Amino acid sequence: AINVNDPTLITLVNKLQDVFTTVGVQNPIDLPQIVVVGSQSSGKSSVLENIVGRDFLPRGTGIVTRRPLLLQLINRPATKPEINGTGQGLAPDGQAPAESKAIKTTDKESNVDEWGEFLHIPGQKYHDFNKIREEIVRETESKTGRNSGISPAPINLRIYSPNVLTLTLVDLPGLTKVPVGDQPRDIERQIRDMVLKYITKSNAIILAVTAANTDLANSDGLKLAREVDPEGQRTIGVLTKVDLMDDGTDVVDILAGRIIPLRLGYVPVVNRGQRDIETKRPISYALEHEKNFFENHKAYRNKSSYCGTPYLARKLNLILMMHIKQTLPEIKARIQSSLSKYRQELDQLGDSLLGNSSNVVLNMITEFSNEYRTVLEGNNQELSSIEL
Ligand code: GDP
Ligand code: NA
Ligand code: MG
Repeated sequence: AINVNDPTLITLVNKLQDVFTTVGVQNPIDLPQIVVVGSQSSGKSSVLENIVGRDFLPRGTGIVTRRPLLLQLINRPATKPEINGTGQGLAPDGQAPAESKAIKTTDKESNVDEWGEFLHIPGQKYHDFNKIREEIVRETESKTGRNSGISPAPINLRIYSPNVLTLTLVDLPGLTKVPVGDQPRDIERQIRDMVLKYITKSNAIILAVTAANTDLANSDGLKLAREVDPEGQRTIGVLTKVDLMDDGTDVVDILAGRIIPLRLGYVPVVNRGQRDIETKRPISYALEHEKNFFENHKAYRNKSSYCGTPYLARKLNLILMMHIKQTLPEIKARIQSSLSKYRQELDQLGDSLLGNSSNVVLNMITEFSNEYRTVLEGNNQELSSIEL
């Protein structure tokens, strides 16, 4: 499904996992969770959906997301060769494919290798992503009623696919101040607590979403992100609704870090509007529309490669790469310790014929690090160069 799902990264993680299985080490790659935070209707669910590259989240005006959604993407090899090498979504260079056939395939057809499963309905596989959305709505209402109620009880959804990285995304209710419908009087505090629970984890990458047609200084998302990540080491600013800004205004000053600077910077995006939701415009349309918007707008066209969902996804990718890189020494140590354990066992067996078998594993690891050194180091440079 994407660019968080860059094939090079998927291959890298899969290879690491193969090595672990061989050595008998429990999977130590604990990738960060990606969590959205921002005001109600700022576009959080839309951003997540575009990142995943599939239509499956309830979106719309008002409070639509009323329980946390823990979306676990799980990489699982295809059972048959794929028709389109990289699967759907965006190419690894962050560009939307010129011919968006791959995207259309996933919008319209169900793929035997990709499905969703809810924790609350064990064993049932959803190959139709529209049915996944319906079930999220149904399950939300079963706990919270229909009248804007909220609940901190998460909905757990797993998506199995050969085209995703094994990692977790969290969609959350938006920050709001005035209770409506069945909402509790202290709704502001309740949602705040709910959000804090997820973004406080040092392992969380925070997407602080702010609608570009509102004042950045009033951004609830940024304010909350700053409370848990004052140095801005894991917060990315996402500016939505850039298409809805007044004529003659733009986000150039924000991008340049002249308003509220963020270490990891801001990414402006254009999601589907309410009309597009009503007319069921697919994600392929959203990405194409977004690309055209930034390439043709006079304020953005000279920096359009730093705008839009593909760039946001690439940024996330680099952060995940960095994370893996930082984890590598620990991974190596764990492999080494299980190796010495096996060596001792072999010695005790006293079978000199088996003496060399641990070298096979050592060779694998060496080969592996050589193969990926360039990938990891290359991306490292790229990450420091995109920091504003
Ligand atoms: P959430 O409440 O923060 O999860 O926001 P949603 O993703 O549900 O979006 C709220 C509303 O804003 C929906 O009607 C979306 O269609 C609309 N919306 C979100 N992002 C954009 C955008 O970039 N441009 C436009 N025109 N509408 C957007
Ligand atoms: Na909404
Ligand atoms: Mg939402």
